[in-house]
Amino acid sequence: MSENQSVSREVSYINPVEAFLYTIDEWCICVSVLADQKVRRSCFCTILPAASLLCVVFFIGSAYIAPDHKEKLSLWGITGSLQNFKLNKCENQCRPHGSETLPEGIVSKTSNLEMRPLWGFPEKDTNSSVNLLAVAVGIKQKDLINKMVTKFLSCNFKVMLFHYDGNVDEWKGFKWSDSVIHVSAANQTKWWFAKRFLHPDIVAEYGYIFLWDEDLGVDYFHPERYVSVIRSEGLEISQPALDPQKSIELHHQITARGRRSIVHRRIYKPGTNGKGCDGSSTAPPCTGWIEMMAPVFSRAAWRCVWYMIQNDLIHAWGLDMQLGYCAQGDRTKNVGVVDAEYIIHYGRPTLGGMDRNKKNSSVKGQTSQSKNLTSREILVRSSHRSHPNDHRYDVRRQSYIELDIFRKRWNKSVEEDKCWIDPYQ
Ligand SMILES: *[C@@H]1O[C@H](CO)[C@@H](O)[C@H](O)[C@H]1NC(C)=O
Ligand SMILES: *[C@@H]1O[C@H](CO)[C@@H](O)[C@H](O)[C@H]1NC(C)=O
Ligand SMILES: *[C@@H]1O[C@H](CO)[C@@H](O)[C@H](O)[C@H]1NC(C)=O
Ligand SMILES: *[C@@H]1O[C@H](CO)[C@@H](O)[C@H](O)[C@H]1NC(C)=O
Ligand SMILES: *[C@@H]1O[C@H](CO)[C@@H](O)[C@H](O)[C@H]1NC(C)=O
Repeated sequence: MSENQSVSREVSYINPVEAFLYTIDEWCICVSVLADQKVRRSCFCTILPAASLLCVVFFIGSAYIAPDHKEKLSLWGITGSLQNFKLNKCENQCRPHGSETLPEGIVSKTSNLEMRPLWGFPEKDTNSSVNLLAVAVGIKQKDLINKMVTKFLSCNFKVMLFHYDGNVDEWKGFKWSDSVIHVSAANQTKWWFAKRFLHPDIVAEYGYIFLWDEDLGVDYFHPERYVSVIRSEGLEISQPALDPQKSIELHHQITARGRRSIVHRRIYKPGTNGKGCDGSSTAPPCTGWIEMMAPVFSRAAWRCVWYMIQNDLIHAWGLDMQLGYCAQGDRTKNVGVVDAEYIIHYGRPTLGGMDRNKKNSSVKGQTSQSKNLTSREILVRSSHRSHPNDHRYDVRRQSYIELDIFRKRWNKSVEEDKCWIDPYQ
């Protein structure tokens, strides 16, 4: 609310009902104002990628004039809506917060992850990256990551590795090491990194953002073909299907690969009292969502999802079911799973998972099958065991706590935002 209050302080209104544009923080926000000067509603303008900021001003009644300009106006005796409009065109240019004192052309609103030479200018790069792969990695998965990164680089992706185990130098052995971006922070999750290093303005150039786990096999996956499928199918949020034979365990039916389809957007499952899934289902878990293991977001969807990622909820549980709100339209159409290009989920223990060298002490009593499960899965299975060196239980408990907080926070936001309309209600 303090942001809104500052808006009220800094502007004055002449007409009872009017609307104006103003910038808050780095975002351009349209604010409609009523006669009592109470800010009733704010909304984000659409910020078009790679284009200048475009904001639409709705004039209801006549225009807004700042105090000093009001003076000038009366001095010059200029009246009429045309002049007002011109004046407002300058006044209301939607500038990123903090850049108002600069001429517009010098303001660089977005960036990218391209590396630049220390001297000289790069040749006109005809192969410049258009898509981005970001993976949280530990050195133990270097065999899988090597295959994955090699494949994506050959398709001209920009690649970013988030190191959670402090091992950065060990990757130097790979010849691609210097052409990817390394970010290191101890024991942080994929979502923690993504929130902090993949701000939509930083990755604004990339058409699709692949935010993947590290224990995935790409033998049957071709990044370029995948992108052409999701582009032609209009999938804003997607994931490759999981091979049900080779993958360790499927968490959700919707991720299982269909052998005869290119993509699928829903599952069919008998059930009573509307609990099943059929062709008329419109909501998760039947349709309109994917799992968070290998999500792929369009630029527009990522801009929305980034906002939904909470700074303090680093396991991001609960986000999957809400992805539909970022689908840029109908979630039953724009969210889907690609069967034609699929991956293998090896389910290796990763961040928060067990140390494989301590296997015999920390996972005593586990079935041998669980050797191949992910931390997530192991956590679910080892619910009652807690060992000093085994934090899987803690991670799992934390994930559930976060899920609960996220759901409550969502509900509270829905309750408090009187202007928000649930498109799926
Ligand atoms: C573009 O890609 C081609 C083939 O992959 C390569 O030979 C060429 O050097 C690349 N150009 C630049 C500027 O990277
Ligand atoms: C990261 O987590 C591991 C396992 O829980 C722990 O041993 C290690 O000290 C942590 N590292 C840091 C820098 O917190
Ligand atoms: C299993 O644990 C014992 C003692 O707890 C240890 O001596 C042994 O090296 C461990 N084995 C492996 C494979 O980690
Ligand atoms: C399961 O893990 C073991 C080693 O822990 C490995 O030898 C085996 O190939 C894995 N199975 C699959 C299906 O990945
Ligand atoms: C959030 O709201 C939904 C729908 O009103 C309700 O079913 C759910 O129990 C609520 N969740 C929490 C954690 O309050």
